[in-house]
Amino acid sequence: MCGIVGYTARKDVENRILNTLELLEYRGYDSAGLAIYNEKFQQVVVRKCAGRVSDLREKCQEVPVAGTCGIGHTRWATHGGVCDENAHPHRCGRVTLVHNGIIENYEEIRDHFGLGGELISETDTEVIAALIDKFYDGRPRATISRAIKYIKGTFALVIMFDDKPGVIYAVRNVSPIVAAYTGDGTMLASDVAALGGQADKYMVVPEYHIVELHQNAILVYDEKDQKVKPEFLEIDWDTTRDGKGRYPFYMEKEIMEQPEVIKNALCSRIVDGHISLETDGIPDPLLTDCSRIVITACGTARHVGLASKALMQNILRMHVDVEYASEFMYSNPVIDEKTLVIVISQSGETIDTLEALKYARRQGARSIGVINVKGSSIARESDYVMYTAAGPEIAVASTKAYTTQLAVMYALIGRMAVLRGNFDESQEKSFIEGLLGISAGVQNVLDRRTDIHRIARDLLEAKDAFMIGRGLDYTILLEGALKLKEISYIHTEAYASGELKHGTIALITENTPVIAVVTQHDIKEKELSNIREVQSRGAQLTLFVSEDMELSDQEKYSHVFRLPAMDDRLSIFPVSAALQLLAYYVSMDRGLDVDKPRNLAKVVTVE
Ligand code: M6R
Repeated sequence: MCGIVGYTARKDVENRILNTLELLEYRGYDSAGLAIYNEKFQQVVVRKCAGRVSDLREKCQEVPVAGTCGIGHTRWATHGGVCDENAHPHRCGRVTLVHNGIIENYEEIRDHFGLGGELISETDTEVIAALIDKFYDGRPRATISRAIKYIKGTFALVIMFDDKPGVIYAVRNVSPIVAAYTGDGTMLASDVAALGGQADKYMVVPEYHIVELHQNAILVYDEKDQKVKPEFLEIDWDTTRDGKGRYPFYMEKEIMEQPEVIKNALCSRIVDGHISLETDGIPDPLLTDCSRIVITACGTARHVGLASKALMQNILRMHVDVEYASEFMYSNPVIDEKTLVIVISQSGETIDTLEALKYARRQGARSIGVINVKGSSIARESDYVMYTAAGPEIAVASTKAYTTQLAVMYALIGRMAVLRGNFDESQEKSFIEGLLGISAGVQNVLDRRTDIHRIARDLLEAKDAFMIGRGLDYTILLEGALKLKEISYIHTEAYASGELKHGTIALITENTPVIAVVTQHDIKEKELSNIREVQSRGAQLTLFVSEDMELSDQEKYSHVFRLPAMDDRLSIFPVSAALQLLAYYVSMDRGLDVDKPRNLAKVVTVE
């Protein structure tokens, strides 16, 4: 969480810092700030405030700061409330810095070095600014090296020293920093999406290395203070971004992009009529020699794991566990060298997922990362990577990341089924035909979004809602409920329909909104009888049902939305688009900030 940026250039950087902070705002948006070295007055000027980058921009417009070297920050609060004082940058003596991460032992450091008297904020970060200032002897790299030896926790620190104008220093542990040459200088940021068309190559700052950013050079030093050659990677996705285009929110734009990005994720893995993972570099023995699979991820990505598990058990007849990444290493998971661990992450930076992966590898497991952001920490830590290539996802609520992760998992499962003898040629062929029809199925739902908008209107006043379904439908409802919760703030729970009468049905009363999904033909009758149970308690029922399923009691539903008839294994895709749209319209019509829901951040880099 928290977005950080630094520029040293030939022209003034204030506006560029503000623009880049806007691109990074999805990482946190409690408060924002910048610090610029003003050449005329030979001093660092700080502007910061609680609120959005737009508030900071207003503040800067009142009294602009001239200068060609500066740093910026957009915050997701961890230590200390949301207020001007706790906003970054923090300045102590000759040191100004911004930080992403958590310093676990900041109180110990503060007390041990007697720094308390110098602090204005309640943050862990300011303690580090004070520590670096205390150690500062005119040698920035030596000072930073000395200071970070005392720090426990994760950090990306971007630092300016008053007596080193025009130079920015950075160091990190776990929390990411990338650096790049721009046309007229150099920059660094928390992620590649922030490079915003200013660079075509970037480098990932290696952990515990110190980077010096000069106007004409990016210098990297290892832990022994030896200069090392930075390794630059091509930026091969569009970071120029045409903003939200004709859409009011990124979320809608990203929902609408799904047919295209799903197609890309699948087509690149279907070669000459067969599923091929050759471009991913995944060797066949990795998929044939494993005896069990463990999937670990967080939030939406974990829901992809649950759907994948259902499919894997069904098709591959393998033992699959899906674990919360945040619980993984504390649950003593059963892992050995025969276990294939699959980690799923859009950002590739979620710290719980990263730590789970590291733990699994220490136990001898082989790993595949299903990742969107190239060169991210999880991608670099995984034995093999399957990229989802969804392009930048800016809205905090995941949409196209979810469906492309699913698409990649389906390709992986299809390939495993062929290699492990679960699919013969004709089964592979029909599976591929199904995969190639997914985009059209999703498009079908998107084309009828005004119908979903109508359904959403009935949820605007709701305080609670329930979602019910069975089998694969249940896994997508978990994701649908998360979407509705996180952006509309309606308390929503997804239930496996058969579980309701073991407790939760007590909450269903007259007009309680219940959303049911029925796409699985083999369990349709059981599902419909569970639906009747809530209907008879007065629930206000909305049904998402495959168009080839007959309904005898259509009139008993508040709404019925027909989903395109597809192979049962694939209907999860159009359902997910429908539930994303439902959450989107409820949030928008409630007048909420759809892309930036309260208390959340897109990239969760703290445990
Ligand atoms: O970047 P990741 O996929 O690792 O993020 C994991 C979760 O934080 C994320 O899926 C989150 O649940 C979604 N943004 C919710 O829509």
